[in-house]
Amino acid sequence: MRSPINVDEFRTLARRRLPRRIFDYVDGGAEDERGLRRNRAAFERVAFLPQRLVDVSKRDMSTHLLGQTIAAPLLIAPTGMNSLVWPNGDIALARAARRAGIPFVMSTAANISLERLAGEAGGELWYQLYVLHRDLADSLVDRAARAGYRTLVATVDVTLNGKRERDLRNGFGLPLRFTPDACLDALAHPRWTYALLRNGGVPTLANIESSSSASIEARAALLRRQMDASFAWDDLIRLRDRWPHRLLVKGILRADDALRCLELGADGVIVSNHGARQLDDAAATLDVLPAVKAACAAGGALLLDSGIRRGSDVVKAIALGADAVLLGRATLYGLAVAGEAGASRVIEIVKDEIDRTLALLGCASLANVDARHLYPIEPIPLRGSGQRASNAAAPSA
Ligand code: FNR
Repeated sequence: MRSPINVDEFRTLARRRLPRRIFDYVDGGAEDERGLRRNRAAFERVAFLPQRLVDVSKRDMSTHLLGQTIAAPLLIAPTGMNSLVWPNGDIALARAARRAGIPFVMSTAANISLERLAGEAGGELWYQLYVLHRDLADSLVDRAARAGYRTLVATVDVTLNGKRERDLRNGFGLPLRFTPDACLDALAHPRWTYALLRNGGVPTLANIESSSSASIEARAALLRRQMDASFAWDDLIRLRDRWPHRLLVKGILRADDALRCLELGADGVIVSNHGARQLDDAAATLDVLPAVKAACAAGGALLLDSGIRRGSDVVKAIALGADAVLLGRATLYGLAVAGEAGASRVIEIVKDEIDRTLALLGCASLANVDARHLYPIEPIPLRGSGQRASNAAAPSA
């Protein structure tokens, strides 16, 4: 195949390069994967209403976020086990982000230590926190502050892991087990297998396994690899008190939750359904964005992810009130194909699509894009059933 020209073509190549269970871990969603389709459908339902005769010869997508200027309204989302996708995947992604002038969010489930990433990758690094156990979380937060991370992202949509049926079928889990099927799969992907073996074998959860937190409960939580499902508002307040820098809460879908996060001192929220990997029928993020935006009108950064595959998706999210978006699978597909260079290429493609969309929309700057540039399409009537989707115009009886 020639070099990929869009994210979907990177996905096709990633599917070829990765063993099936690794590709499915990256690509899959929860249960029936309706959420994956719903996330995409939400973007597809919204059309543009371009403005004409505007001078768009110079265009600007730089973005102000939390007091800083970034080159584009993009971040690389936190994703765990990146070294299964490419050797030292966390470093490769962080470097691609630095090259593009955008932040990289390191996951709690990263495969290298947060101190090493800070030393080797540089750039604007954020740290994402999962609370498996309070002691463990406290020690990670303190380490992140000491290592120079200045933005913490608390992910709150994983009270337990979603039912990802591709992973269940493939026997994918941690620690990675090499069943006969998995060995055959690895043999059928020699490039991936060779790279894994050359780089120290199966990656570990480097930060939490090396954590100095020695309490018996913390070790037990780690072995179970389950979240602390009792984490609630009081704990968020405690986290706010402990972490002295910028704090965002990721996984918010409701306006009231967003408002409460801001009232408790969070600097912003990330509207996310975890890329449809948790609750299959959770609302699509683009659909709930306007309500969350209204709740956050008084301030606070508003970010969004889940389903972004095109620059035009980014522009739609900005038009509906997001300050920036995170790329999850898009950059992982790039990483799977060509490591740092692949992730960089994906970011370039998305940036180019944002730029093109701005020009064709008649907007010289992303700051000028708003809901007046959008034309919402009504749901399409269900074919052959004689029924219409509920909010389509129905004849009065
Ligand atoms: C994730 N996501 C995630 N989120 C998080 O807060 N911590 C994590 O460790 C992970 N791990 C993870 C692994 C993989 C393989 C994927 C695909 C996703 C969710 C991620 O940050 C983001 O919310 C979604 O990926 C966004 O959806 P798209 O862009 O992948 O559709």
